[in-house]
Amino acid sequence: MIYFDNSATTKVAPSVLETYSKVSQTIWGNPSSLHNFGEQAYNLLEQSRQQIADLLGVKLSEILFTSGGTEGDNWVVKGTAMEKRAFGRHIITSSVEHPAVHNSMEQLAQLGYEITYLPVDEEGRVSAADVKAAIRPDTILVSVMAVNNEVGSIQPLKDIAAVLQDYPTIHFHIDAVQGIGKGISDLIFNDRVDFITFSGHKFHAPRGIGFIYARSGKRIAPLMTGGGQERNLRSGTENLPAIAGMARALRLLLTNEETKVANERAVRGRILNHIKDFPKVTLFSQDNDHFAPHILCFAIEGVRGETIVHAFEDHDIYISTTSACSSKKHLASSTLKAMKVPDQISTSAVRVSLDENNTLAEADTFNQVFDQLYEQFKKINS
Ligand SMILES: Cc1ncc(COP(=O)(O)O)c(C=O)c1O
Repeated sequence: MIYFDNSATTKVAPSVLETYSKVSQTIWGNPSSLHNFGEQAYNLLEQSRQQIADLLGVKLSEILFTSGGTEGDNWVVKGTAMEKRAFGRHIITSSVEHPAVHNSMEQLAQLGYEITYLPVDEEGRVSAADVKAAIRPDTILVSVMAVNNEVGSIQPLKDIAAVLQDYPTIHFHIDAVQGIGKGISDLIFNDRVDFITFSGHKFHAPRGIGFIYARSGKRIAPLMTGGGQERNLRSGTENLPAIAGMARALRLLLTNEETKVANERAVRGRILNHIKDFPKVTLFSQDNDHFAPHILCFAIEGVRGETIVHAFEDHDIYISTTSACSSKKHLASSTLKAMKVPDQISTSAVRVSLDENNTLAEADTFNQVFDQLYEQFKKINS
């Protein structure tokens, strides 16, 4: 099979599974337990945290474990709202955020917070000038994703960071769930960012584990209260096997990152350059440095996205309609809507999303199948 749905989830790496299994069977104590067995677990927890911090060039205390991207996004957005409610109730975000951010904003709007949704251009990118224009004295948070999960556009994070230098009290959050390991660490870990969300299952760690980066001195209220784990900020017994596995997965991801990114870019380019000249194809991802190397979104006019997905599936090739979250609900892509793509075309959109293990040979097979399907669709439509 050819798996081109890595933005939905990735396969757990064998060595990560090995770590998960070993920790589950040998260091399965509770890190909060007083006895030696608990201490072993605690030590491994902090060792994993240190590994992640070292890999990202941040401090140990700035890494906080979560259950994944959704929790990280909810925590930073709502945790900021709770922490800073006395100072202001205005939040700025983009109109192409993942539902984990967008729906958190909607919930806050119902509680009386005011949300400014920034428009995007035809590449799905916001402008730093719009961020600046939207800032008010009561703005408490700017939340903008690193890489859009539907079309792959990279937001101008450095420009936004530059704008926010003049507003040190506003929290700056980046959802980097789709951005880690994609050659843009300098954009994500810019000198102004306060909070960053990560999710393990997008880089070959198990589901249900993730972490946030929280800059020293920047505070968000806890959403999970209880036993006081994670420095009293996120209660719940730690998922140590998954945490240790995730630390290993991150090390694997960031080893030879440049080579992996170049490979993804080449595989994506092979497909993009093949399909771009077909008259009924519309590309939403471009081959330029405004786009991440692993996501390619396109439509075949007149054919529904679901039909395209299942047609490829019949050839053992797995792609998706624009996002895993929207696909089963048959929702039109929110990103494409914000990019002002008419529904008639956006309902024909599909996403190919790669990881570092995909090959040019797989791209060639995809292209051959594409040719066959395109002819079939043309016949049916005529
Ligand atoms: C950009 C982005 N943010 C957040 C999430 C949610 O992450 P998780 O599946 O770990 O909850 C996803 C998942 O697709 C995503 O693509």
